[in-house]
Amino acid sequence: MTPAIVAHQLTRMFGKIAAVDHVDLTVQDGELFGLLGPNGAGKTTLIRMLTGLSPISSGDAAVAGVDVRRDPVALRRAISVVPQALTSDLDLTGYENLDIYARFFSVPRRERRERIQHLLERVELWDRKDDLVSTYSGGMRRRLEIARGLIHRPRVLFLDEPTIGLDPQSRHVIWELLRELQHGGGLTISLTTHYLDEAEALCDRVAIVDRGRIVALGAPAELKSALPGSDTLQLTLDAPPSQSLTDELGALPNVRKLERDAAQLTFHADGGAALLPRVIELLYAAGHKVLTINVSRISLEDVFIHFTGRSLRDTHVTETDTRRAAAPRRFS
Ligand SMILES: Nc1ncnc2c1ncn2[C@@H]1O[C@H](COP(=O)(O)OP(=O)(O)OP(=O)(O)O)[C@@H](O)[C@H]1O
Ligand SMILES: [Mg+2]
Repeated sequence: MTPAIVAHQLTRMFGKIAAVDHVDLTVQDGELFGLLGPNGAGKTTLIRMLTGLSPISSGDAAVAGVDVRRDPVALRRAISVVPQALTSDLDLTGYENLDIYARFFSVPRRERRERIQHLLERVELWDRKDDLVSTYSGGMRRRLEIARGLIHRPRVLFLDEPTIGLDPQSRHVIWELLRELQHGGGLTISLTTHYLDEAEALCDRVAIVDRGRIVALGAPAELKSALPGSDTLQLTLDAPPSQSLTDELGALPNVRKLERDAAQLTFHADGGAALLPRVIELLYAAGHKVLTINVSRISLEDVFIHFTGRSLRDTHVTETDTRRAAAPRRFS
C-alpha cells in the first residue's frame, strides 16, 4: 500500500522567507503522526500544503496516493481536515451539522442516518444530537467536528491542535477517541499539538519542526534515548563529599557528568535509576547519610529544547505578533 503522506523537498516561500524549507517526509498508512514546533515553525503551512489549501512553491507531495497539486477533488475525498478554529454551525443541531457534510460528500440517503448515528455514538454525542450546537461545550464541539470530519470515511485525518483550550477531562476523551479511530481500521492521523504530553501519549512518531525544517523525527522513546545523559539523579547529603569520593562517583559507568554544589550532587546519566544502588553504596561506605533523592527522566520537552534551543513554553510567552496575540493561549 502507498504511504499515507509523502513529501519530497516540499517548500513554501513567503517573499524571501521559507516558511517550509525543503521538507522530506513519509508517513505510513495507519500511523498516528505528530507535528511539534514553536510558533511560526511552519506546521500549519506544511499541513495546508498537504491538504491542498496553500500553494506549493517547490517540491512535491502526495497524500493518500493523490498528487496534491494535480487532483484537488480526489484529495478532498480522500482526506479530512479539522482546523484549529471551531467551525461547526452554532444555529444547527449536532445531527444537522453532520447531515450537511454527508450531503456535501454525496453519502447516499440510506447510509446517511446510519453513519451519522454511528459517529455521534462514537464521540458520545448521540443523546445530544437534537440540541443546538450553541448549547455545547468546547470539548463537545471539538468531538462533533472530529465526527463530522469522518463522515466521508477519509483515509487521512489532519487535526490542528484538537485539544487546545480544553479541560483535562475533555482532552482525555479526545485522546481515547483518536486511539480508537486509529486502531479501529486503517485511518492515518496527522496531529499538530503544542502539548508534549499529548504527543508522547498518542503519537507513534513525531516530527519536531523548527524554522521550516524537520529537526528531529522518530518515536518519542527513540528521540528521548537519542539524547545521552539526560536522566538526572540528584542527592542531598548530610555534608559535602570529598574530592576523591566525588571523582570516584563521577567515574561510575553511564555517568556523563557530575556536578557538586556543597552537599548536593547532580548526576547526568544514561539510566539514572539503575545507577542509584551503586551511588548509595559508595556514599554509605564513605560514612555519608543521604537526606533526599530525586530521579528525573528525560521528557519530550527536553528533546524539544535540545533540538530547538528553547522550551515550548518560552515560545508562547515571548510571542508578540498581533496575529497570534489574538489566538487562544496554548498554556493556561
Ligand atoms: N499568509 C502568510 N503570509 C506571510 N507569511 C506567512 C503567512 N502564513 C504564515 N507565514 C509565516 O510563515 C511562517 C510559518 O508560519 P505557520 O503558521 O506555518 O507556523 P506554525 O508552526 O503553524 O505556528 P503556530 O504554532 O503559531 O500555529 C511564519 O514565519 C509565519 O509568519
Ligand atoms: Mg499553526
